[in-house]
Amino acid sequence: MTEESPQFNSWFEGQNDTDALLKDASAHQDEQSSELSLRPKKLSEYIGQTALKEELSVYLQAAKMREEALDHVLLFGPPGLGKTTLAMIIASELGVNLKTASGPAIEKGGDLVALLNGLEPGDVLFIDEIHRLPMNIEEMLYSAMEDYYIDIMVGQGPTARAVHFPLPPFTLVGATTRPGMLSKPLRDRFGIINSLAYYEPEDLAEIVTRTASIFEAPITKEGALAVALRSRGTPRIANRLLKRVRDFAQVSGKDRIEPDLVTMALDKLRVDSKGLDDTDHKLLNFMIDYYKGGPVGLGTIAANIGEEQDTIESMVEPYLLQLGFLKRTPRGRVVTEAAYNHLGVPYDRED
Ligand SMILES: Nc1ncnc2c1ncn2[C@@H]1O[C@H](COP(=O)(O)OP(=O)(O)OP(=O)(O)O)[C@@H](O)[C@H]1O
Ligand SMILES: [Mg+2]
Repeated sequence: MTEESPQFNSWFEGQNDTDALLKDASAHQDEQSSELSLRPKKLSEYIGQTALKEELSVYLQAAKMREEALDHVLLFGPPGLGKTTLAMIIASELGVNLKTASGPAIEKGGDLVALLNGLEPGDVLFIDEIHRLPMNIEEMLYSAMEDYYIDIMVGQGPTARAVHFPLPPFTLVGATTRPGMLSKPLRDRFGIINSLAYYEPEDLAEIVTRTASIFEAPITKEGALAVALRSRGTPRIANRLLKRVRDFAQVSGKDRIEPDLVTMALDKLRVDSKGLDDTDHKLLNFMIDYYKGGPVGLGTIAANIGEEQDTIESMVEPYLLQLGFLKRTPRGRVVTEAAYNHLGVPYDRED
C-alpha cells in the first residue's frame, strides 16, 4: 500500500472511529439519562400503540421460535413518540445486544464496517435519523441488509481491490421523523414498516401516571389527564411537563398534583390548553397577521418566525395539522377556522 491510498487510509481511520461513534451515542444517552430511567424495558410496559405492539409481538415470538434474526424494522413518526424506546425493547425482548448509531454520524464506509463488524448473530443495530445517512453509506447497507455482506473498496488506482466482509445475520432497526426523505431502495429493504401515531389522551395520562410514580410524585387521575391534554400527544413532552408541574407542586407545598395546579403551572410555562407553545403561537399569528391566514409558503414562514424549515416540518407542523389548525394546500399552508377560534381571533375569510 502506498502513501497515496486515501481510500484505504480513510477506511482505516474509520476503524478507529468506532469508539468515537459509540461515544457519540453514549454522550447522547447521558444527556437523556433521566429519559433512560423512564423508558419502559418490556413490550408489555410500553403504553399505547396497541396495534403496533400486537403486530411486533408476533414477529418477535416467531423470530425467537425460529432462532433467526428479526426482519429489519423501520419506525417512523414525529419526535418523542417512542421510536428509540421501541428499538431498545426489541433488542431486550429478543435477548440480544443493541448497538446505536445516528445516520449523519456514519460518515465513511469504515464507520459502517466498524459498526457491523462488532455484531453477534441476531443483534440489533439501531440507526436513528436514518434518512440522513450519506448516500454512499446507504448503498453499502443494501447488501448488508439483504445478504449480510458488504464489499468495500480498499486502495486506489491499480492497487484498488474490493474486500468482501461477510456479516452475521442481524436486525437493522431504522428510525426516522421524515419517512418521505427515505429513498425507495432503502425503504424496500425493511420487512417491517410501522408508523407511530400521536397518543390518545388516556394513554398519555397512563404514561404520566407511570412517570409520576417513578418520581414518587403523587398525582390524581384528573391531574394526569390535565398534563396529558397539553402534551401534544407526545410522551416526551408529557414527561417534561410533568417534571415542571412537580416543581410547582413541591414549592407550593402540594402533596398531590391536581388539575388546578397543572393549569397554573402550564400557564406559567406558556403551554396553552391544547398544548400549543410560543412557537406554535408565533407561527399561527404570523400567518394570520401578515397573510390573513394564508396560503403561505414554508420558506416564508421559516424565515419570519426564525425556525429552520426542517424543524417546522418535522416538529411544529405535524401537531398543528393533526389538530386541524393548519391545512396544506398546493399554494402553501393555511390557518383553519378552528385555529382562529382557539386563538380567539375573528374569522373573516370567505372560504
Ligand atoms: N409507549 C410509551 N410508554 C411509556 N413511555 C414512553 C412510551 N413511548 C415513549 N415513552 C417515553 O417518552 C420518551 C421519549 O421516547 P423516545 O426517546 O423513545 O422517542 P423517539 O421517538 O425516539 O424520539 P426522537 O424522534 O426525538 O428520537 C422516553 O423517555 C420514553 O420513556
Ligand atoms: Mg429517538
